[in-house]
Amino acid sequence: MHKRTLLQGAASAALLAAAAPVFAQAQPFKIGLILPMTGQQATTGRQIEAAARLWMQQNGDTVAGRKVQLIVKDDTSLPDTTRRLAQELVVNDKVDVLAGFGITPSAMATAPIATQSKTPLVVMAAATSSITQASPFVVRTSFTLPQAAVAMADWAPKNGIKTAVTLVTDYAPGIDAEKFFRDRFLFNGGKVVESLRVPLRNPDFAPFLQKVRDLKPDALYVFVPSGAGAAVMKQFGERGMDKAGIRLIGTGDVTDDDQLNDMGDVALGVVTSHHYSAAHPSPANKKFVAEFQKANKGLRPNFMAIGGYDGMRVIYEALKKTGGKGGGEALVNAMKGQIFESPRGPVFIDAQTRDIVQNIYLRKVEKKDGQLWNVEFDVIKDVKDPGKAR
Ligand code: PHB
Repeated sequence: MHKRTLLQGAASAALLAAAAPVFAQAQPFKIGLILPMTGQQATTGRQIEAAARLWMQQNGDTVAGRKVQLIVKDDTSLPDTTRRLAQELVVNDKVDVLAGFGITPSAMATAPIATQSKTPLVVMAAATSSITQASPFVVRTSFTLPQAAVAMADWAPKNGIKTAVTLVTDYAPGIDAEKFFRDRFLFNGGKVVESLRVPLRNPDFAPFLQKVRDLKPDALYVFVPSGAGAAVMKQFGERGMDKAGIRLIGTGDVTDDDQLNDMGDVALGVVTSHHYSAAHPSPANKKFVAEFQKANKGLRPNFMAIGGYDGMRVIYEALKKTGGKGGGEALVNAMKGQIFESPRGPVFIDAQTRDIVQNIYLRKVEKKDGQLWNVEFDVIKDVKDPGKAR
């Protein structure tokens, strides 16, 4: 009798022990996706949310036995709001991962919360080099401005561009673009005759472009954040700067695939350097673009979408590697060193820096079948963020 009770006790204890992790894993795995869904950066939010949902549609919403739940919040690209939303997501919703981050100030404002709560913070958009140094819990799947800027500073002097004016949006990623383009361009024998900076909020490019026209450099080198490119292009055309022989070059943010097709012929021939083009001719990208467009009424994915799509892959893979257990430190460790074929090409999450290593492509805007595309014509392989070398 006594023996039986003992045995029964042991059996139910074993059952309980076995049931505990099952119970823990029955909890959904929550991803708090904070994005600008309204306001000036709204296209970034729309692209990243669509890409994250496409990833889940293609790969299911269960990973290693855990149901994955996406909680989308609109920070309207105000960093104080981003931080407040992150705090609420961590404390109230108990999210396992924070992700998104449309602009650098939003990522920077939230990094301390990631550190304090040991929550992985997956940067899918923001691109200032130093973001990954703001917390050991930051992992980036977008790009860095120095990656893109250096490639163009190497290409331009070899292609008839000896003088340039830089025009950047006046905040951290713009300063990165300006600095890394200028230093490398000078090193290669080029000359930057003027460095102009326009405000992030409600920029008016007209007076700056007039100044560039008067200075008449071989090229105008531009960085503006995703969403602002069409306005630059329009004013560049209206001032007849292309006709005056000034070439427009820059990071691929200015010929953003979200807007490119509506920019008109003034965009034709514009050369940029970037990590993603919707025209990237790989089977993986063709599939990605077709399925993204199918799920989003024909919307063409841009480089923000690819940051969101690959960010979801990195999170899924990490959750898988922890056997569904998760945990902030375990997840970040499982994100480090991931290597995979993205629709953009081969990528690698550097285990030391938690930043992305990827190809940077030189692209020229061309018309194909009546549509404008960033057509890649050269590649610099496996580019590490040059901002980390200093
Ligand atoms: C940024 O704020 O880091 C940022 C935003 C949009 C871009 C690039 C960088 O296109």
